[in-house]
Amino acid sequence: MKGVILKCLKDLVVEKFGKNTWQQIFDKSGFNIATIIASGNDYEDEVVVNVIVKTCEVLNISLFQAADAFGDYWMNTFAPNVYGAHLMGAKTAREFLLKLNGIHDRITKSVTNAHPPRFELEWLDNNTLIFRYISKRGLVDFVVGLLKGVGRKFNEQLGVEKLNETDIKVIFNK
Ligand code: HEM
Repeated sequence: MKGVILKCLKDLVVEKFGKNTWQQIFDKSGFNIATIIASGNDYEDEVVVNVIVKTCEVLNISLFQAADAFGDYWMNTFAPNVYGAHLMGAKTAREFLLKLNGIHDRITKSVTNAHPPRFELEWLDNNTLIFRYISKRGLVDFVVGLLKGVGRKFNEQLGVEKLNETDIKVIFNK
């Protein structure tokens, strides 16, 4: 997985809990601390997941809480700074979600070894969407957190409910 995910997690932890806490997480995860997190670098998925697990242990939070915090920070702080232009194209959460496959494709097009997720959108009615997450990585709880972050980014009350390991129900104008 691209280092940009670790970079975002690091920024979040350092901003909210300080550098020492991030250092503790690194020490516990066995990740080589000499390794500089470079956004374009590739890290094994297991390494990234392990750092997330250790973050939960050190902060004494559940994976769901970590996923929500990550999703919020990614959508409202990190991505606007790093990828502002990609967010500016959308004015509503609905518009943004319709563009999300394209955004992932565009951002990872020139990056070797990137495997961005895919999303299938199935509308149950005008305001109810089944947002299907297609990826081998099994990070559906992060998708839930990211969708909540999308709601906050566009100042909308989104209903976000995980149905199973691939499907999330999203209700607009809740
Ligand atoms: C402007 C907003 C966004 C940008 C720029 C962005 C960009 C990226 C990038 C660069 C990666 C790494 C790909 C790789 O390592 O192969 C990634 C992974 C991922 N993104 Fe996004 N993303 C955005 C929003 C979202 C949102 C809103 C969701 C979910 C609703 C999402 C879900 C994911 C997931 C789950 C992964 C991990 C890879 C996987 O599960 O297969 N992203 N994204």
